[in-house]
Amino acid sequence: MNELKHLVAPSLLGLILIAASAATLSGQQDPPQNLQVLPQDISRSALNRVMIENLRGLGLPRRQNEGCLFCHVGDMEQPSDSWDFASDEKLTKRKARVMLAMVQEINSRLEGLESRVAPGLKVTCYTCHAGRTDPRPLPDILMASYEAGGVDSTITRYRALRRRYFGADAYDFRFTVLPSIANAVAQRGSFEDAVTISELNEEVFPNQPAARAVTVSFVIRQAMSEEGIEAGLGVFEEALTTEPEDVVTWSMLDNLGWGYFRADHQSEAMQIFSKNLETFPDEYVPNESFGDALWFSGEQEQGMAVFESWLERHPDHAMARRRLATMRSRR
Ligand code: HEC
Ligand code: HEC
Repeated sequence: MNELKHLVAPSLLGLILIAASAATLSGQQDPPQNLQVLPQDISRSALNRVMIENLRGLGLPRRQNEGCLFCHVGDMEQPSDSWDFASDEKLTKRKARVMLAMVQEINSRLEGLESRVAPGLKVTCYTCHAGRTDPRPLPDILMASYEAGGVDSTITRYRALRRRYFGADAYDFRFTVLPSIANAVAQRGSFEDAVTISELNEEVFPNQPAARAVTVSFVIRQAMSEEGIEAGLGVFEEALTTEPEDVVTWSMLDNLGWGYFRADHQSEAMQIFSKNLETFPDEYVPNESFGDALWFSGEQEQGMAVFESWLERHPDHAMARRRLATMRSRR
């Protein structure tokens, strides 16, 4: 009895599998009518595997063949065996054909490598698409949204992508992405939009002082650019008392100072560095930045004096000692 069961079960399972794969490609004409990249004599199951790989690579739904309609002409109201898989009407199918040929070529070139890290490793649609149809990285998508529809559409887009893809390979949702977008937006002149984008980062990274610090920085930069350095330093001063201690650290003005310095606004930079040093005299970096900025803008003696004064207070600070020695040798 039991033996019979063992004999029957596997073949039943086989039948179910065959039925399932036949159902997936039930629309297939035999033989295919319009293959330009895949071999004409490709088996039904091999064609099936390629098409399933297309779905997986692009993150398209497999259920009821719905994802096939991203490339193929058909209608969910009609059974999929009536769909016109041979048609090249959709641009996405025509693009996918170029992709198929490209992937074949990439893999054949990889086979020419002297040795392989992982011999069987193949590039697939997933390698670039990682489960999304549009392979652009997140910052590119967000900047395109910003240019097309402003800050509201950028925020909407980010939320939608995060809702759908968070935790998948598809997009980089790490901390620095929104601040870099906010920065690009600020460079285009809109600090208000930069603040809005940075506030979204605060929302998705709650309780992270660094996220709050980015927003405060943009508010300071806005004041500096619209009302002058003094006004911006006033905002900074206020933030020192209103924001938690770990939000307003020495790195805030340090970054702003170097931003001005690199943009050839040396006197503004010196004002900022000097305020930072006055606020955080016992942190090394504000000393170093003030000294270096003096040195680089030609005030060599004053620059060295900053390091000397630091070393009087911290005689064991090797890094400062080396820096001062280099300055002395180059004076
Ligand atoms: C990302 C686009 C894309 C998706 C998704 C896709 N296909 Fe295709 N399919 C193609 C391309 C491109 C070809 C033509 C390949 C060639 O020219 O060699 C093709 C060819 C076919 C053919 C052969 C048609 C013929 O007669 O020439 C069948 C059948 C087919 N696909 C079925 C499916 C099914 C079923 C699905 C869903 C499970 C699917 N495809 C999903 C792009 C896609
Ligand atoms: C080497 C990276 C790479 C690989 C591998 C790759 N793609 Fe693409 N794919 C791209 C790029 C880049 C674009 C955007 C092309 C453009 O400018 O329109 C794209 C666009 C597409 C589009 C158009 C999407 C749209 O909305 O218009 C389809 C469809 C597509 N790929 C399917 C595939 C399929 C199917 C495979 C696997 C057979 C594949 N791709 C493999 C990089 C790749």
